[in-house]
Amino acid sequence: MKRVSASDIKNKKGKEPIVCLTAYTAPIARAIDGGVDLMLVGDSLGMVLYDYENTLQVTLNQMIEHGKSVVNASSKSCVIVDMPFGTYEESPDRAFKNAARVMKETNCNGIKLEGGRLMERTISHLANSSIPVMGHIGLQPQSVLIDGGYKVRGKDKSEWQKYIDDAIAVENAGAFSIVLEGMTEPLATEISQKLKIPTIGIGASPKCDGQILVTEDMLGLTNVAPKFVKKYKELDKSINEAVNQYAIQVKNRTFPSSEHVYHMRPKLVNNNK
Ligand code: KIV
Repeated sequence: MKRVSASDIKNKKGKEPIVCLTAYTAPIARAIDGGVDLMLVGDSLGMVLYDYENTLQVTLNQMIEHGKSVVNASSKSCVIVDMPFGTYEESPDRAFKNAARVMKETNCNGIKLEGGRLMERTISHLANSSIPVMGHIGLQPQSVLIDGGYKVRGKDKSEWQKYIDDAIAVENAGAFSIVLEGMTEPLATEISQKLKIPTIGIGASPKCDGQILVTEDMLGLTNVAPKFVKKYKELDKSINEAVNQYAIQVKNRTFPSSEHVYHMRPKLVNNNK
C-alpha cells in the first residue's frame, strides 16, 4: 500500500470522511499506521509528552526529531508535521527555510501552521515552493496568551465572518486542507460547506470533512481532556493493572520464569561409549 499523500487527502473532499489522529512517537505511529488517513505530529506534544503549560515552548528540533520517528515507523498514512511557534510568523522566507528543513530532515508529506488571513502570503509562498500546507484556524493554541485563551469561537454570529474570511484566505493561498479547532458546530458546518478543500474538525462539527483527536486523549492516557474528547479506551487503567501485576511477580519471584530466561546449551550425549 502506497503512503497517502497530501493531494490524496485533498481529493477525499465530498467522497469519504477523513480519519486523522496525532502521532508523536514510533510506537503510536506503528499502532495507528494505515488505520487513519493522516497522522499529525502536532506541537501538542509539548503538553502531552513534555508537560509544558502550553505549546509555545516547543522547538523546531523537537518537531523534527518526533517527525522523523513517526515517518520512519510508518509507511501508509500521510504524515504532517506542525511548525512550532516562532518558526514561520516573521516572514514567508523564514517560514520556507524552516519548513524546508522539516520536509528534508523528516521526509514527511507536508507541514501545518496556525493562522488565517495573516498567514495568507506565507501559505502561498510555501505552497508555490512545493510544500503541502495544512491550515489551522479558530482556536489557535499558539495564540492562547493574546487571543482569549482556550475559549470556544463563534458563539455569537457577529464573530463568524472573521473565521469565514480566515478559512477562505487559507484556501485561496493554496492549502490542501484546514483544521477547524474549538468553534461552534454551526460555524464549522458553514465553513465546511463554503470551502473546496477538506476541513478537519477538532471540537467543531460532525459535518467537517474529517476529524482529528490527540491519540493519547482518546486512549485515556491524559488526565485533563476537553469536552470534545471521546475516550475510546482507558489505557491508563490497563497500564496500572499491568504494572501492579508485574510488581507482584517481581516481589514473589515468579517473574522472570523459565520462558523468559536464557538457558545453557543442552549437554551432548555421546552414544559411542
Ligand atoms: O497540535 C496538535 O495536535 C493540533 C491538533 C490538535 C489539530 O494542532
